[in-house]
Amino acid sequence: MERTSAEAPATTALVRLTDVRKSFPLPDGPPLVAVNDVSLSIAAGAAVALTGPSGSGKSTLLHLIGAIERSDGGTIDVGGQEVTGLSGRALSAYRRSVGFVFQRFHLLPTLTALDNVVAPLIPFRTDFDKVARARELLALVGLADRAAALPSRLSGGQQQRVAIARALINQPALLLADEPTGNLDSQNSAAIVDLLLKLRDEQGTTLVMATHDAGIAARCDRAVQMRDGRLTSVDR
Ligand SMILES: Nc1ncnc2c1ncn2[C@@H]1O[C@H](COP(=O)(O)OP(=O)(O)OP(=O)(O)O)[C@@H](O)[C@H]1O
Ligand SMILES: [Mg+2]
Repeated sequence: MERTSAEAPATTALVRLTDVRKSFPLPDGPPLVAVNDVSLSIAAGAAVALTGPSGSGKSTLLHLIGAIERSDGGTIDVGGQEVTGLSGRALSAYRRSVGFVFQRFHLLPTLTALDNVVAPLIPFRTDFDKVARARELLALVGLADRAAALPSRLSGGQQQRVAIARALINQPALLLADEPTGNLDSQNSAAIVDLLLKLRDEQGTTLVMATHDAGIAARCDRAVQMRDGRLTSVDR
């Protein structure tokens, strides 16, 4: 019998990096090559851990994928869009389409949890109720009852859950997390990783997470290791 393409579906890559490079100028001497000819393909719906020693280029690579920083060379294709060439409105729209979670939460201290989640959408008109969606997301991360709390009244784990809800307000297909548990104790770390993997399982959000924690990396589908700006190993 003839095989049809439906029997052997190709895995769709959401992110395709080809020979991506980024250098930073140094005051004396040659520029520092933070990301050195990195090529990597990430399937839609995958949970990928980015590991490697301090200074190996993990954050820089996440910033390039999220277009927080611009690469010097190579191509970054996300969902069929070439990210490196974007500017102006297209660049802002792309940045809004990707969720980013930081190690230090970066919540606005004078806004409530609810307003922090709504914040990325405040300048924009939307065809849905922003506040209602923000409440749904706070419920999703287990903080429905803390919507009115200021960040200073929340634990580190709770603040990170608010930051995750905020990263999800635009329903991103791609969530980039830079050591999201780096400032949390082991119990809160486990809860945050549970939450991120649940989002991947239930909503199909592709997850790329920089982490120093081998236990967390082992819970992802794949672990990709960096050293001195290069990918040194790609497991599984
Ligand atoms: N804005 C910058 N200017 C100059 N050098 C930078 C800049 N950002 C990063 N670097 C350098 O690029 C290299 C990679 O840094 P990066 O922050 O990506 O590493 P990392 O793997 O995330 O490290 P960590 O695990 O400590 O977070 C480092 O040598 C760092 O000093
Ligand atoms: Mg880093």
